[in-house]
Amino acid sequence: MCGIIGICLRDRSQLPLGEALFRGLLRLEYRGYDSAGIAVIDSSRLHIVKGKGRLDELEARLGFTKKYTGETGIAHTRWATHGQPSDINAHPHVDCSGLFAVVHNGIIENYLEVKEKLESRGHVFKSETDTEVFVHLVEELYRELGDVYSAFKSAIKHIRGAYAILLITPIEPNKIFFAKKDSPLVVGIGSSYNLLASDIPALLDHTRRVVVIRDNWVGYITPSSVFVEDLERGFSVDHEQYAMTVLWSLEDASREGYPHFMLKEIYEQPRALVQTLSGLRSDAVLEQVVSLLVDADNIYITGAGTSYHASEYYAYAMSKLAGRLVIPFIASEYELYEETASNKDVLIAVSQSGETIDVLKAVRAFKKQGCRVVAISNVVDSAIPRESDYAIYMRAGPEIGVAATKTFLTQTLVLGFLAIAYAKSSGDLSEAEYRQILLEDIEGSVKVLGKVIEKVDALARRLVERLSGVKSMYYLSRGVGVPIAREGALKIKEIAYVHAEAYPAGESKHGPIALVEPGYPVVFIVPNDPLLERRILGNIMEMKARGAYSIGVLHEESPLVNSVDYSITVPSLHWVTTPITHTPFLQLLAYHLAVKRGLDPDKPRNLAKTVTVE
Ligand code: G6P
Repeated sequence: MCGIIGICLRDRSQLPLGEALFRGLLRLEYRGYDSAGIAVIDSSRLHIVKGKGRLDELEARLGFTKKYTGETGIAHTRWATHGQPSDINAHPHVDCSGLFAVVHNGIIENYLEVKEKLESRGHVFKSETDTEVFVHLVEELYRELGDVYSAFKSAIKHIRGAYAILLITPIEPNKIFFAKKDSPLVVGIGSSYNLLASDIPALLDHTRRVVVIRDNWVGYITPSSVFVEDLERGFSVDHEQYAMTVLWSLEDASREGYPHFMLKEIYEQPRALVQTLSGLRSDAVLEQVVSLLVDADNIYITGAGTSYHASEYYAYAMSKLAGRLVIPFIASEYELYEETASNKDVLIAVSQSGETIDVLKAVRAFKKQGCRVVAISNVVDSAIPRESDYAIYMRAGPEIGVAATKTFLTQTLVLGFLAIAYAKSSGDLSEAEYRQILLEDIEGSVKVLGKVIEKVDALARRLVERLSGVKSMYYLSRGVGVPIAREGALKIKEIAYVHAEAYPAGESKHGPIALVEPGYPVVFIVPNDPLLERRILGNIMEMKARGAYSIGVLHEESPLVNSVDYSITVPSLHWVTTPITHTPFLQLLAYHLAVKRGLDPDKPRNLAKTVTVE
């Protein structure tokens, strides 16, 4: 949640500072978008502009870009945690003297305690945020220590929680001070000026050389240097050792002509899956992970939201392909298994961002029990892979739309691949079966996916005409289709604000069917599996008997094609490929319904892409 950026120029002719900060915020907007603000140092004074609203509204109302120039500036786009979205609660925050300005992503857990102490010493607070205590703390400690960096470091030592913090002050106008723990922060090393941001896309207009800042690192940047030290271990860090060059382009992180990132990312899925497959083939870690899993007593898998659906898919695939029990659980409920996990077990932690706090907490709790952890993530060097024993990357490229799309397909590809590799290694799949599934079915599904997306896109648009006024829907399936049904219901809820529930179809008789009346839409996900198809047919009939409008996502040769009111057919391949073949229609249905209703699918209300609070 929240995106921050800082730019430190040698002189103002290098860049229009306000405009560059604003552009950086636009690239971080997916991290939060309820309010935003900028602070710059100009003529030895702090100038601040901030307010409630989306960036484009604020630019029109307050004019971030034109009026604000200078050499050093910081900016923030917010997703509220403490204190409502408002002009006052928007960052940056300043101290009583007006000498320090701060932006922060994360949560200061002990802020009430710190605030009380500071109030008793005469500090006056303007906002309801946890962040504001930090800037008053620096003011207080600066008075005592007389040096900005010492005051900044000391203030960091006084706070508990998660943070990526940037601070500027006209006392040292050519520096941006930073600190990081549990929230992401990256330094961008430019040829003649330096930057800091929550995420790499915000830096790519300026540089490709980056250093991902680690937990407990503090320091400052100047236009020509970067100083970093490890606060916990008490030594300075040679940041050059950690510098890397970003290979993907800014274009990869921009809309490429699509009206929304979500649509672009849906259409990008074939390309993303090709990258995932080629990554998997050359990933040396994979073999080690498979043998770790084969030797494990228990295998657990966890994730949140879409990543949890991918986890459920893996549990099903492992059971059917290798006869191996895998225990999936929603990350925030990790305490249920925490005590039973042991050092002979393995936890697979699935997280696109690699930052979701519930997943991170599960990882930490299982590691404490001696359990080995394998991360499946899209963001290299993010917190969850870093804290895990092994990391396998999805290689989907940056995903900007808040709702996960291409990262779901790439997650399930990684997990499906892991399951068939396991089944081959355990002897449950012969070499020939393994090659058939991998080369014919999985690769085959990736090859035809571009065409499938075009076809189901047209079908989704047509269906939206009929569903435009819908208030509630069901998504039903069995077996491998259940996690896909859950993903479909989540998408339509998140993006089109339609109440939707997903159930194993057999469960629909135990309550959900009571809501069904003539015209009620029920989407059936029908995997390519004759046994599941037969049983789903019974559920279709039950729903139709109550007047439901049945929509079926089925394979081309399915005998059920004529049993539903509206059918969407996709290639007939092994059931392992169900997430790849069946999900895009569900994503596109949610997308087009949102657009039809005048909603912005990239920025659904109340949601954030990365959830770093419990
Ligand atoms: C948020 C996002 C979802 C995502 C979930 C888990 O809720 O809006 O799209 O599935 O977090 O995120 P992760 O990065 O851990 O996969």
